[in-house]
Amino acid sequence: MAEGIFISEQSVLREQRYAELLPQVQALIAGEKDLIANMANMAAALREALGFFWVGFYLVKNNELVLGPFQGPVACTRIAFGKGVCGTSWKEKRVIIVDDVDQFPGHITCSSFSRSEIVVPLLRDGEVVAVLDVDSDQLSDFNHTDERFLTEMVKMLEQSL
Ligand code: SME
Repeated sequence: MAEGIFISEQSVLREQRYAELLPQVQALIAGEKDLIANMANMAAALREALGFFWVGFYLVKNNELVLGPFQGPVACTRIAFGKGVCGTSWKEKRVIIVDDVDQFPGHITCSSFSRSEIVVPLLRDGEVVAVLDVDSDQLSDFNHTDERFLTEMVKMLEQSL
């Protein structure tokens, strides 16, 4: 396995950093079938390469989301279907970008430092089995570039299921 994640100093734009990161994460995951192990390395790689405030996964277990592998401050452990940004992404089976978490009805505050977020669902046979949640301490920190690359990351996990 790789020694670690390498992002060149020339890559200052987030898009460039994602582009460098993607094949490295692909290589990390290629030889491993265990979903939790791959989620753990993906969360660590994303935080290391992009410096997000919080990166992690929630897994669907007994009809609720339960905290999985993550990097960042301690977080809420359980989220109900349709609740918060994660529960809404699960219910609606779509990526959700929130520019200002205080404006999102029912947002679940795990940390008062979190200001914006993106949630990407992970599907198996058309059903959500987990979500990737990335939080920022800056307002409006996520856009379609994040959606594109994070969706690519999640697809890698879906293919390993
Ligand atoms: N903010 C999320 C809860 C998870 S934490 O941010 C880690 C939500 O409303 O779904």
